[in-house]
Amino acid sequence: MNLRFSAFLLLLPQLALAGPPALPGQAIFQKNCARCHGANGKLGLNGAHDLTKSNLNAFGRTYMVTKGLGKMPAFEKVLTPAQVQQVVAYSLTLK
Ligand code: HEC
Repeated sequence: MNLRFSAFLLLLPQLALAGPPALPGQAIFQKNCARCHGANGKLGLNGAHDLTKSNLNAFGRTYMVTKGLGKMPAFEKVLTPAQVQQVVAYSLTLK
């Protein structure tokens, strides 16, 4: 086994322990997305889609948030790619 991989395995339990709840994406979502999608993702203002019912995976959502579509604004100038990742990860937890 190569060294880098074993180091990764050693880190895994720690990552699991660090775990939820405070997802960084939540604050980003409340600030940038809730006005159309609602705090729970269901608001649907301005024709926004119910995020709890969305079938889009992380790739689709990342594209959507970065580039926008129709009335959905593009966030590529507002959020860093890392923030987009975080907010997308958070949006996937909305049920
Ligand atoms: C100005 C209102 C508005 C804001 C702010 C907004 N959205 Fe949207 N969003 C929309 C609209 C409208 C659509 C539907 C676009 C379409 O399909 O034409 C949409 C669609 C989406 C979809 C696709 C859902 C699906 O399955 O079709 C995702 C994912 C999404 N938004 C995530 C986000 C995230 C994450 C943020 C914050 C970074 C955000 N939106 C901010 C209006 C908004």
